[in-house]
Amino acid sequence: MSDLPSSNDPSLTKSSLNLDNATVSEESAKLRMGESRDKGRGPRDAGTYKFWKTQPVPQFNEDGKGRGGPIKKVNLDEVPKERYPLLDGFEWGTIDPEDKKEVGELYELLSNHYVEDDDSNFRLNYSPVFLKWALTAPGWQKQWHIGVRASASQKLVAFISGLPTNINIHTQTIKVIEINFLCIHKRLRSKRLAPLLIKEITRRCYIQGIYQAIYTAAAVLPTPVASCRYYHRALDWLKLYDSGFSHLPANTTKARQVAKYHLPSTTQTPGLRLMQAGDLEAVRELLEQYLQRFDISPAFSIDELRHWLFLEAGQGKEGGKQVVWAYVVEDLETQKITDFVSFYSIESAVLSHSQSDVIRTAYLYYYAAHRTQNLQQRLQGLINDALILAKKARFDVFNALRLQDNDLFLEKLHFGCGDGQLNYYLFNYRVEPVVIEDESACLDGQRPGGMGVIML
Ligand SMILES: CC(C)(COP(=O)(O)OP(=O)(O)OC[C@H]1O[C@@H](n2cnc3c(N)ncnc32)[C@H](O)[C@@H]1OP(=O)(O)O)[C@@H](O)C(=O)NCCC(=O)NCCS
Repeated sequence: MSDLPSSNDPSLTKSSLNLDNATVSEESAKLRMGESRDKGRGPRDAGTYKFWKTQPVPQFNEDGKGRGGPIKKVNLDEVPKERYPLLDGFEWGTIDPEDKKEVGELYELLSNHYVEDDDSNFRLNYSPVFLKWALTAPGWQKQWHIGVRASASQKLVAFISGLPTNINIHTQTIKVIEINFLCIHKRLRSKRLAPLLIKEITRRCYIQGIYQAIYTAAAVLPTPVASCRYYHRALDWLKLYDSGFSHLPANTTKARQVAKYHLPSTTQTPGLRLMQAGDLEAVRELLEQYLQRFDISPAFSIDELRHWLFLEAGQGKEGGKQVVWAYVVEDLETQKITDFVSFYSIESAVLSHSQSDVIRTAYLYYYAAHRTQNLQQRLQGLINDALILAKKARFDVFNALRLQDNDLFLEKLHFGCGDGQLNYYLFNYRVEPVVIEDESACLDGQRPGGMGVIML
């Protein structure tokens, strides 16, 4: 069954509910081995990665067993002091995410040139409020939000961002830069500008004492540490159908599709309410404990969590635009916070329709449940409530990756499996690939296992 269109970006991909978990796991394993040919997006021969074969990343089919940790010790004397030279007519710049005009310039670049589906029917459209939020987490520095400008016009034509943070890899906590929003103007593609942006941000990080990075891409590069499918859950199936985002599967009717995705109008979990600033410490504790279940997970500081749940601005809103929704479950007897769930918003422009036509997508963000005994039941209830809340907030579709404990609810809650992979990468760090686990592994109290990091 095919609900959503095929795409370069797995978050926009076709939903084919019947791709079973075994097939998905096998495909993930092939990717790590450099074998998959997933819709032409599989890895090429190792030698053809002209840039990536020169970088401190694990190469395909490398026997990295038992050799975890940094790949290269960085010698600062060998790190260039000057910026890498650019093509003639272009110059380096930065984007200050607190400057409205500069955020506007970034919005302009991304809204016209960022990730599209394979047929160029949809393009991710991060709002200016979202971009400001995504680029100003604690520790941010303007020098890591790197732009390239055309010298004559000063037009922004390329961008890459970095945010410092800590992640847990098994028992180690390491400082990394989180790389995002790599984008090059369509007219400047295939000119090897991406390697330059990557080398320049690497240089700036090395100078500041950050030697590792985490990043995600639909592209298969050497070598994913984890590969996760996107799953999609229609909230307004008719809207998705009318915009060409969803197809009508064979052997069914529109009315049956609408009925299939129907949700109750009120949430079901007793004690579920909007998260407030006063819940922050309890949520941090809950999340920290919960995330220990995974091989790789974020190590949030309280300030980072406050930022990512957008509590400074009061429930995720700025200028009337909300980017994050966060809810807690408060035990009505003990007043303890027992569960937490959040999601964030990204729109996709419908390119084949009028300019203003958009698909509003909620992305499952972090969640945690205290009562791991009835984890499956607990999470199914919690995420179903998140679907109800997202529908009320007028989202059209709800996306989730196949990571964390999501296998415990995806199928049951009518999420459809997309046909693309989102690959996770670590730069200058070798670790055994994370196995994306199925339902039984999620229920295994003996975890850790699986991927616990969500990137915007
Ligand atoms: C991704 C994008 C920046 C690549 O730019 P490009 O002009 O096609 O590629 P360039 O000629 O500059 O560089 C090619 C190199 O970059 C690598 N590359 C391509 N996409 C990459 C990515 N997402 N992350 C890291 N490296 C990437 C290629 O593998 C190649 O290196 P190789 O020779 O080792 O294989 C550009 O296609 C783009 O802006 N796409 C739309 C937005 C997007 O998809 N961004 C990535 C989000 S993860």
